Amino acid sequence: MPELSGKRIILGLTGGIACYKSAELLRRLQDEGATVDVVMTAAASRFITAETMQALSGRPVWLDAWDARADNRMAHINLTRGADAVLIVPASTDFLAKLAHGLADDLLSTLCVARGAVPLLAAPAMNHEMWTHPATQRNAAQLLADGVTLIGPAEGSQACGETGSGRMMEPDQILRALVAFFQPKVLAGRQVLITAGPTSEPIDPVRVLTNRSSGRMGYALARAAAEAGARVTLVSGPTALPCPDGVSRIDVRRATEMRAAVMARAAQAHLFIAVAAVADWGIANPSAIKLKKQADGQPPVLDFVQNPDILAEVAALPDGPWCVGFAAETDHLHEHAQAKRARKGIPVIVGNLAQQAMDAEDTELVIFDRHGAQTLPRQSKLQAARALIGWIAAHQPSR
Ligand code: C5P
Repeated sequence: MPELSGKRIILGLTGGIACYKSAELLRRLQDEGATVDVVMTAAASRFITAETMQALSGRPVWLDAWDARADNRMAHINLTRGADAVLIVPASTDFLAKLAHGLADDLLSTLCVARGAVPLLAAPAMNHEMWTHPATQRNAAQLLADGVTLIGPAEGSQACGETGSGRMMEPDQILRALVAFFQPKVLAGRQVLITAGPTSEPIDPVRVLTNRSSGRMGYALARAAAEAGARVTLVSGPTALPCPDGVSRIDVRRATEMRAAVMARAAQAHLFIAVAAVADWGIANPSAIKLKKQADGQPPVLDFVQNPDILAEVAALPDGPWCVGFAAETDHLHEHAQAKRARKGIPVIVGNLAQQAMDAEDTELVIFDRHGAQTLPRQSKLQAARALIGWIAAHQPSR
């Protein structure tokens, strides 16, 4: 489902080689359902043509404060009224300075000052010496204080051949930042701890005992919680997924490592969401060397050891976080989930049918608490995660 349906975005380009990425961003914004009006400074049009941006956006591109196409000659007012955001990509050193000081000497800078309550987001792009210059840092700090959202910059190789901080974020990162910006900040100021993925219990250096879990639901929840304004720590077993933006991830393998990582942080968390498919048993005697097939055909004998129940342990902490568990069941979802909720001593457990959720993009979640069950419609894991975060924010008692 498109993430920006019904949104009208003003995409402002200022002078910088990263302008070539703005064309890609424009396409991505449109793919997500946004209507995009492009405004360019004179310097931006040295790097990419207005014709390119007009052909891609299918709408007039605006360059000049004196543009006669606006009947009232007030393009700077007309464009911003009813807009959902002004997004400056790339934002040059000069343009950040102008924004910080309220200068208005061309169409884009003027509409930024004239925009009223329309949010302003900017993705800085410049040489690392320019970004770290005290004046630029002062301007960036002033813009943050003024409520402007800065997206990046990133570290890395730069068009000038040097390396450092100041490189513009990639179009998909900027798109995700804009989508995140529009999510309600229902967990602002909250510290959220999440487990995700499988655990992996070594048998020998090359073999493991694990659970089938892609980690997608836990990662979607980490992203949704971060979008909702929380500080999120994700304790993750082995997955192939990228860490969601703004989330700090701790990689673990064994359940005992996951337990240690969680218990070290549980006391500081307001909310603990246990999504990981933790292996119920580890191997008591993993071999230090690769086990060999025996000539007599005898399989190896493995000693199992019960793993700690991380969620139950966190739930038992005297001043611990509010706990939300997950239960993937193959049958009797309601009975098993409610029994698990009681056994672990947690206020909420979220159930789904393993055969539907496993390896799937979509999921149907059922939220169980002491009042009963509430089913969320089948939807993408990200949408389900956002809905669940909304439910949690509305139901978690304030400490
Ligand atoms: O005990 P069971 O695996 O059925 O319960 C599932 C819930 O408990 C999930 O939230 C899972 O992350 C959590 N869990 C845990 N530690 C375990 C087993 C499960 O935190 N050892």
